[in-house]
Amino acid sequence: MYILGIETSCDETAAAVYHTNLGMLSNVLFSQIKLHAPFGGVIPEIASRAHVEKINGVVSHALKKANVTLETIDTIAVTHKPGLPGALLIGTCFAKSLAWAQHKKLIGINHLEGHIFSACIENNVPFPFICLTASGGHTAMYLVHDFGKYEVIGETIDDAAGEAFDKVAKLVGLPYPGGPIIEKLAQEVGFVDFFNYPRPQKKTLSFSFSGLKTAVLYDLVKRGAYELKSKTFLQENDDVLKKQVASSLIVCIADIFQEKLLLAIKKYPAIKSICFVGGVACNNYIKKQFADFAHKHNKQLFTPSRQYCTDNGAMIAFVGGYKAQKGNFSTFDLDILE
Ligand code: KG4
Ligand code: ZN
Repeated sequence: MYILGIETSCDETAAAVYHTNLGMLSNVLFSQIKLHAPFGGVIPEIASRAHVEKINGVVSHALKKANVTLETIDTIAVTHKPGLPGALLIGTCFAKSLAWAQHKKLIGINHLEGHIFSACIENNVPFPFICLTASGGHTAMYLVHDFGKYEVIGETIDDAAGEAFDKVAKLVGLPYPGGPIIEKLAQEVGFVDFFNYPRPQKKTLSFSFSGLKTAVLYDLVKRGAYELKSKTFLQENDDVLKKQVASSLIVCIADIFQEKLLLAIKKYPAIKSICFVGGVACNNYIKKQFADFAHKHNKQLFTPSRQYCTDNGAMIAFVGGYKAQKGNFSTFDLDILE
């Protein structure tokens, strides 16, 4: 079965072609990062407009790269929740129109389900597993029993982990998105915990990252590096301070994640493996910490390759694949859900 996957829930216009026996045949992405960078975060209206401009080309490119035509496609899978409403509408309307006009089956996909199974695209992950999803918009842990069968066991009560990277980066005058540049700077000082930021919500599976951002802010104020009144970082030329903040932040977030994973594997000892997915799973230091953690606790760790960590069409096509095989199709009144 050939599945065309379409993803437009936030700031990536993405499409992929997946065959349920042959595997992933293409994965094409137009990243809007450059369009949003000047604003320090995603601007919904800009995202929607860019999706409108790019979606046709991205889908055509995905078909071409997979060496198939639209006629070959059996099912069109599209992210219809959760995400930015305008952005979701572009992908969903596009997919519905295409499926209607070309007499294809249609499946609406939950973006988070895409992330949860993204490590399964390239790996045979043994069930049950715990999946930690950490991106700019979401941070949660899931107990995954089987394809399409999972439950939330802990989620953030405020900001997402990626958001913490992005907000702290902004505080110290680093560009959006914060994660990659923070990792680069931290690497230069060897991932040392200089400032010992707080690790909150210790005893529960819930996450909280907004306090971490505030803790960084007040620590900078205390050091005379930030003026609250004018919201100005005063040490623009102090590269050492930026590196120390970056390093302390990564070590802190890696610690928080490991504390939560430890609680989770104690609560669910039957789990065989751990998956770490989403944009933050691009972080090599955190991945290395997780690999040691998994080894120590006799679990297998799986992380998707970079192209499947950040938002992508492949994970949507992949989930579409197992839903199509079960006959779980959507009707043409498929709507978006924020
Ligand atoms: O999954 P993703 O591309 O989009 C969302 O669904 O949000 O994740 C983007 C997030 C951003 O917050 C970005 O700062 C973070 O992932 N990120 C990283 C790294 N690369 C991207 N965070 C930490 N370390 C990285 N290397
Ligand atoms: Zn995502």
